[in-house]
Amino acid sequence: MKSDIFTLRNEYSKSTLSDFELSKDPFIQFTTWFEEALVSEQIEPNAMIVGTVDSHGQPTQRTVLLKGYGEEGFTFYTNYKSRKGIQLKGNPRVNLLFPWYHLQRQIIISGTVSKVSRQNSEQYFHSRPRGSQLSAFVSNQSGEVSSREELESRLQKAEEELKNKEVPLPRDWGGYIVTPSSFEFWQGRENRLHDRFFYELEGSHWKISRLAP
Ligand SMILES: Cc1cc2nc3c(=O)[nH]c(=O)nc-3n(C[C@H](O)[C@H](O)[C@H](O)COP(=O)(O)O)c2cc1C
Repeated sequence: MKSDIFTLRNEYSKSTLSDFELSKDPFIQFTTWFEEALVSEQIEPNAMIVGTVDSHGQPTQRTVLLKGYGEEGFTFYTNYKSRKGIQLKGNPRVNLLFPWYHLQRQIIISGTVSKVSRQNSEQYFHSRPRGSQLSAFVSNQSGEVSSREELESRLQKAEEELKNKEVPLPRDWGGYIVTPSSFEFWQGRENRLHDRFFYELEGSHWKISRLAP
């Protein structure tokens, strides 16, 4: 069993990242790679792992979907009273990780979250399929539920109550925007001698360093 894992080994030779091709602006570099991920065979290219820290300093992670990005930051939507929501209230520092294995790439972004406007959350919430809106409406995300049946009966009740009505945006549901303070772009290379570039905000300037693999 163990020896099978030993033999799992891919060569990383799909691409390179050099000082010459790297943009001085990490948002432009992100856009270039994100657009390549969108047209690649990478599954769920907008899925990212969000790391947060609880009140004991214990890191936790989960996948969420990136729903917008630009110079202002990186946006995702969730429940503000979920485990991550509670942690972010106590400590707004986050890490985002895009695991683009198909491209042999990884991007890590560190930053701080703030809530998006209620209007922004309303707009996104109502753009979702009605089934997703109803599920968010009945789910106290990360709270304990007694059974699958309980969830399904909550959903059925909400479907009946809200028949022919708009599903209201739940009070505790909305977006976070991550303002980045650093970015790391990782490109897998032959013999594990990978390319890594780290951008760190120094005042209003992004300082770029190449890191050892
Ligand atoms: C592919 C994928 C996409 C997901 N997208 C979201 C999302 O956009 N928002 C969200 O709240 N949870 C999303 N989840 C569920 C989260 O990973 C997580 O289970 C949930 O947010 C509760 O996390 P928490 O208890 O740490 O707060 C997604 C899970 C997967 C696997």
